[in-house]
Amino acid sequence: MPKTGTKAPPAASRKASPSKSDKTSKSDKKPAAPVTSPPSGGSANNGSGGTLDVVDGRTRKEYSIPVADCAIRATELKKIKTDNPDDTGLVSYDPAFLNTASCKSAITYIDGDKGILRYRGYPIEQLAENATFLEVAWLLRHGELPTQQEYEQFVHDITFHTYVHENFRKFLEGFRYDAHPMAMLNSSIAGLASFYPSARNIFDETERNISIVRLLAKTPTIAAFSYRHVKGLPFVYPDNRLSYVENFLSMIARMSESKYEANPVFARALEILFILHADHEQNCSANAVRAVGSSHVDPFSAVSAGVAALFGPLHGGANEQVLRMITEIGNVKNVPKFIEGVKTGTGGRLMGFGHRVYKSYDPRAKIVKRLADEVFKVVGVDKDLEIALELERIALSDDYFVSRKLYPNVDFYTGLIYRSMAFPTDFFTVLFAIGRMPGWLAQWEEMLLDREQKIARPRQIYIGPKERQYRSKLSAK
Ligand SMILES: CC(C)(COP(=O)(O)OP(=O)(O)OC[C@H]1O[C@@H](n2cnc3c(N)ncnc32)[C@H](O)[C@@H]1OP(=O)(O)O)[C@@H](O)C(=O)NCCC(=O)NCCS
Repeated sequence: MPKTGTKAPPAASRKASPSKSDKTSKSDKKPAAPVTSPPSGGSANNGSGGTLDVVDGRTRKEYSIPVADCAIRATELKKIKTDNPDDTGLVSYDPAFLNTASCKSAITYIDGDKGILRYRGYPIEQLAENATFLEVAWLLRHGELPTQQEYEQFVHDITFHTYVHENFRKFLEGFRYDAHPMAMLNSSIAGLASFYPSARNIFDETERNISIVRLLAKTPTIAAFSYRHVKGLPFVYPDNRLSYVENFLSMIARMSESKYEANPVFARALEILFILHADHEQNCSANAVRAVGSSHVDPFSAVSAGVAALFGPLHGGANEQVLRMITEIGNVKNVPKFIEGVKTGTGGRLMGFGHRVYKSYDPRAKIVKRLADEVFKVVGVDKDLEIALELERIALSDDYFVSRKLYPNVDFYTGLIYRSMAFPTDFFTVLFAIGRMPGWLAQWEEMLLDREQKIARPRQIYIGPKERQYRSKLSAK
C-alpha cells in the first residue's frame, strides 16, 4: 500500500476548491479556442526561407525546393521523377521518423543538446516549481496560463467529473487478479467511448471540451480502481473536497478513515512528477494519438492508442525496468561488478541512463533528483535506494558513462520515488499515463484543428513479389 501518510496538510497545491456540483459546466458552454500560433522560444525557425537546389543525377534536371522553418515538404520530392511513365516521383524513406516532422506544433519545445524543455514557452523548471498540474493541463491545451476565474471553473469541472458510471465496477471486475494495470487502463479508456457516444462529434467545441474534461477527471479514478482491483480492495469513490492529486492518493490508499489526508510531501512530489510528464512533443504515444485521431475517431479511442503506446517497454515502461535492474543487483556490494558488466558489454545496459534526445542532461531528471531527496527524507533510504544511489555515484564519475554523455534520465529517479512511496512496480507506467493525459489531449486537439492535417497515411517502398498467377497449394477445398 503506498505510504501516503496521515499528516493533515494545508492543501498546498490546491489553488481553488470547488464549492458545489454543477452538471452543465461553464466551460462546456464557452470553451476557449486553442492557440495555433508558432512557439515564441527556441531556434526552430532559424534558417527559414530560401530554396534547396538539387540536380537529379539520373536525369540532370534541376529542382528548386522551397525551404520553410528549416524543412522541405516531402510532397515536393514527388515532382522529381524520371521519364519512365511508371515513376510516381521520389518519396523520402524514414523508418521510425528519425528526421521527419509530421506536424507543426505550438505546444512543447525541446532542445536536446542544451537540455531545454518548455511547455508553451514556459521552462519546465519554473512550472515544476510553481504551477499546479491542472494549471499546466490548461496551459498545454489553451496556450496561455489560466486566469483565476478560468482556473477555478476548470478545477470545478474536473472535480465534478471524476465519477465513472457504476457499470465500470462490473467492467473492471471482469479482469483477472493479476491483470497488468496498464492493460486495464488502456481498455477502460477505450471503453469510455461507449458511455459517451456524442463524443464522436469532435468538431463540436462543446463536445470536445466535455470529453477533455472527462478524460482528465476520470483517468485517475480508473487508474485507482485498477490498483484496488488487483489488491482485492474495495473501490474508493472520488472525494470532491480534495485536490486532483490528493483525491487520487485517497482513491489509492484510503481504508477506514472518515476523511483522507495525504502526506503533503508525497502529494506535491506526485504533482510535480505529473507536471514533468505532461507532454514531450512528438514522442511515440503522442504520435499514436495523432495518427489514430486523424481518422476522426472520438477522443477516448484516440487517447487509448496513446496509453497502448506508453505501455511498451521502450516508452513508458523504462521506469519499471530501473527497478527490475535494482532488484537483480540485489545488494550494494554487487554494484561495481554490475557496472563492469555494463562497460564490458557482458551485462545489460544501465537502465535509466542515456536519452535519445537529451545529450547534455535531461532537465526533468535534475528536478526529480531534488524531489527524490525530499521524499527520501520522509521515508528514509532502504536497501534498494542505496543500490540506486551507488549506481548513480559510480556512473557519474566513470569515464565510460561521462565520455558517452550518459546521464541519469527522468526514469531513473521517478522509479525510485514511486518505489519509496511503495507503489507496485507495474503501476509506474500508469502514473506516467495520468501525467501525460493533458499532453495527449492538447496534441489531439491541435491535430484536429490544423487545416493542413489529413488522415495519417504514410507511404511505403514495396519490396514484395511482382505480379504472379494464383495456383492453389491445397489438395482439397
Ligand atoms: C535511451 C537510449 C535508448 C538512447 O539510445 P541512443 O541515443 O540510441 O544511444 P546509443 O544506443 O547509440 O548509445 C550510444 C553509446 O552509449 C552506450 N549506451 C547508451 N545507453 C547506455 C546505457 N544506458 N548503459 C550503458 N551504455 C549505454 C551504447 O552502448 C553506445 O556505446 P558505444 O558507442 O560504445 O557503442 C539508451 O541510452 C538506453 O538504452 N538507455 C537505457 C534505457 C532507458 O533508460 N530508457 C529510458 C529513456 S527516457
